[in-house]
Amino acid sequence: MTDTPVPQNKSESSGEADNVVTVTGLQKSYGDNHVLRGIDFTVAAGSVTTIIGPSGSGKTTILRALNALDVPDGGQITIGDVTVDFGKTVPKSQLVIYRAQSGMVFQGHNLFPHKSVLENIIEGPVIVQKRKRDEAVADAEALLIQVGLSDKRDQYPHQLSGGQQQRVGIARALALKPRLMLFDEPTSALDPELVGEVLGVMKDLATQGWTMIVVTHEIHFAQKVADQVLFADGGIVLEQGPPAEVLSKPKHQRTKQFLRRILDPV
Ligand SMILES: Nc1ncnc2c1ncn2[C@@H]1O[C@H](COP(=O)(O)OP(=O)(O)O)[C@@H](O)[C@H]1O
Ligand SMILES: [Mg+2]
Repeated sequence: MTDTPVPQNKSESSGEADNVVTVTGLQKSYGDNHVLRGIDFTVAAGSVTTIIGPSGSGKTTILRALNALDVPDGGQITIGDVTVDFGKTVPKSQLVIYRAQSGMVFQGHNLFPHKSVLENIIEGPVIVQKRKRDEAVADAEALLIQVGLSDKRDQYPHQLSGGQQQRVGIARALALKPRLMLFDEPTSALDPELVGEVLGVMKDLATQGWTMIVVTHEIHFAQKVADQVLFADGGIVLEQGPPAEVLSKPKHQRTKQFLRRILDPV
């Protein structure tokens, strides 16, 4: 529940330390396609940010920059206490540390098909983080309880529904204990009746105080769970603020048009 939203502007109290994410002047081109044209935003600790915007507006590119899956061309990103200046050449060792700050849940699950649910979850902790297998298994079992899938521990992805696969994907990202969780349209590939179980898990994470950035077209989720909404359009964040402003009283014509198309598509 977000009855008491995390204050978005804490600069008068203890300053930037309250922000888990600070993005400044983020730029990214693919060839001639100037996709991100100076993205700026901050994310307060323990808050939920949703990014909405038209297809092709760069939402995925923003998340991929936050997770260093693609390296931006310019701008700065701070996640936790790691700052990367993409205007300079970033050493690989620094990118590895930076990437470990965030966990990503993708549009379609991308679980290893030949590994069981448990093996999928412990892969990162054991192989990447070199944690003890026993500990990783104990953590994974706790995460499976959290996402409501204890009984699926030894099953394989193809034996699960799309919603269950996405919940495993969430558990797998959480297993790496990131500072920040990123979700790229995690329910958009699901049958409608499976959307709720995934959003429910995400809402629980928000309640537990996870810092989250969620690209989604689930406006009701944004309304109920988000502390701030960013509207991405034309390579910038055109409008940002609490859901009661951006979703209910959008200032820009483009935001109004977009919301109308989403909420009333026919
Ligand atoms: N790997 C890539 N190579 C070339 N162009 C890309 C790549 N990824 C994204 N793009 C382009 O960047 C733009 C923004 O894409 P994306 O971030 O996926 O938008 P959104 O998630 O908002 O739909 C689109 O024009 C897309 O075609
Ligand atoms: Mg996308």
